[in-house]
Amino acid sequence: MEKVIIIGASSGIGKHLAKEFSKDGFVVGLASRRLELLEELKTELPTKSYVKKLDLYDADSAIKALDELINEMGDVDVIIINSGTGHDNPVLEWCKERPSVEVNVSGFTAMAVSATNYFIKRGKGHIVGISSVAGIRPFRLCPAYGASKAYISFYLEGLRHKFAKEGFDKIYITDIRPGFVYTDLTKNNGKMFWVSTVEKAASQIYTATINKKKIAYVTKRWKLIAFIMKYIPDFIYNRI
Ligand SMILES: NC(=O)c1ccc[n+]([C@@H]2O[C@H](COP(=O)([O-])OP(=O)(O)OC[C@H]3O[C@@H](n4cnc5c(N)ncnc54)[C@H](OP(=O)(O)O)[C@@H]3O)[C@@H](O)[C@H]2O)c1
Repeated sequence: MEKVIIIGASSGIGKHLAKEFSKDGFVVGLASRRLELLEELKTELPTKSYVKKLDLYDADSAIKALDELINEMGDVDVIIINSGTGHDNPVLEWCKERPSVEVNVSGFTAMAVSATNYFIKRGKGHIVGISSVAGIRPFRLCPAYGASKAYISFYLEGLRHKFAKEGFDKIYITDIRPGFVYTDLTKNNGKMFWVSTVEKAASQIYTATINKKKIAYVTKRWKLIAFIMKYIPDFIYNRI
């Protein structure tokens, strides 16, 4: 039976990903800060699951928590680094930029390093990171969030390069780039378009993971927006 760890499994995309993997027979490791939500989710899953309190604001303790979870599960095939946060920040206050830097950059890196070293020792595995279409081009309302998601995509590409060059051809990297998905993170956003349900997003992320995709846009049509965002000239982009 295959085993997956989902970091950031207490709500939204991570919670529904846990349901997708469990429905398909995976043993699931659930990690994040809100232990009570993880315990509740555990009771809903048809397969065996493990829970672990893990806070990415304290990267060192998060590394310890991930190690413990891996040990408790015995062996892990896939590690999904889904945790993330961000705020619209029109006046640009540090207190609103900081969580994106601490969770999405420092916290993500701590988890990616741990997962990498575990899979190198094991000789095979799969790391999935959740970046965003927001990482394609910076946006004035949330510069730290977009920058942090660009960092995640870049970091994952760096790992893919490392594994290819060092001959770890059984360690896979998947960069998931969602557009808008209706979750706690986005429910108070102003205007959104092409908004996916969390169930549909989780199902597409699950399929992309199983198929070991390098990069997947979720939902798929967001690939078009990513292309436009990347190539649209500044004089048009700066009016948005
Ligand atoms: N929704 C969208 O439109 C959208 C679009 C692009 C990318 N994404 C990305 O998708 C991922 C999931 O977001 P979501 O939309 O599902 O939002 P969500 O419902 O708010 O879920 C965020 C998850 O991250 C965890 N998390 C936050 N801070 C953490 C910390 N300090 N330590 C450990 N875990 C932490 C939360 O768990 P705890 O609070 O229990 O710790 C929660 O499980 C994020 O990386 C987000 O940036 C979302």
